[in-house]
Amino acid sequence: MSIMKQTKFYILTIVSILMGFSVLAIDFPPWDVPEAEAAKENPLPMEMKYISEGAALYNTQCVACHGVNADGMGAIPAANLSTDAFREQSDGSIFHKLVVGRGTMPSFKALGDESLWKLVLYLRSLGEDLEEVVKKKASVLLSTKVEGDQKMLVAQFFELQENGKESPVANAKAGLYVKRYFGNLPLSKESLFTDEEGKISLPFPTDIPGDNEENLTVLAQLEDFAFENVQASAVLPWGTLLPEDSFTKQWDNTRALWRGNTHVPYWMLGMYLGIAGGVMLGILYVLLLVRKIKLAGKNA
Ligand code: HEC
Repeated sequence: MSIMKQTKFYILTIVSILMGFSVLAIDFPPWDVPEAEAAKENPLPMEMKYISEGAALYNTQCVACHGVNADGMGAIPAANLSTDAFREQSDGSIFHKLVVGRGTMPSFKALGDESLWKLVLYLRSLGEDLEEVVKKKASVLLSTKVEGDQKMLVAQFFELQENGKESPVANAKAGLYVKRYFGNLPLSKESLFTDEEGKISLPFPTDIPGDNEENLTVLAQLEDFAFENVQASAVLPWGTLLPEDSFTKQWDNTRALWRGNTHVPYWMLGMYLGIAGGVMLGILYVLLLVRKIKLAGKNA
């Protein structure tokens, strides 16, 4: 191995080790909590209702820093909330930390005590403790109806009780989608919640293109933390049929990154030509220099 190669190898190794450490070693100094605060007890019981409200709060307020898995791997480095060590502290300690905050961790006092206790329940429910929490079973019935000119999509969710009976899942979050090649397209921009009968009905938009037989696949799913994931999908003949050449027509004037070679955006084309041209000129320049050197050599 030449010296150059060896040095390169060492530098690369050191850099990768340092990079590895910078990810792993996000460690925060111990955070002491006054005894009286640590001894506070959670006034709320470990019930699914509160846990799922805590989860909803977590997903809006905390996920950016603490990450979807609560491992502290969000956009801003934060404490890992999914370790055993974390769960060993009392409810009161966690509560206190949420109230006062420290460093980049803001104070969440403004959310109010009850919300903070729900967050504590949710954090407790993560990891090992989650096994104690049994998710409820549910089923979903997808149907359609036509009201005047308007086609309606109706999803109704039922909870399967232990005695085998069914009851409607009221006030639960659920989603209605149209299946696309690249994932599911939500049929509503706002979050949907079931009514007292466990139902969600949505007017179906008339302008969603279907496949070549006007068919669309719709999907309904329950998205409530307290329930196991349930989905139902159905193929409906509700897509507007696209005429043979409408794909090209519809898109002809639109330039976008994903449109392939013939429809790249102008800025991208310009950038590409600029870079490619620059490289060509560079090569040309080098060739000219080489020629000059050769000529100089001959003349000498
Ligand atoms: C802006 C980023 C940010 C947000 C938002 C944030 N945190 Fe933190 N969190 C941190 C950082 C950074 C720490 C480590 C602070 C320290 O120890 O100095 C931390 C620490 C904590 C701790 C203490 C960890 C321990 O080891 O005891 C808890 C509990 C916590 N966060 C919960 C939450 C909850 C719940 C929310 C949402 C309501 C939230 N955090 C929102 C950045 C954030």
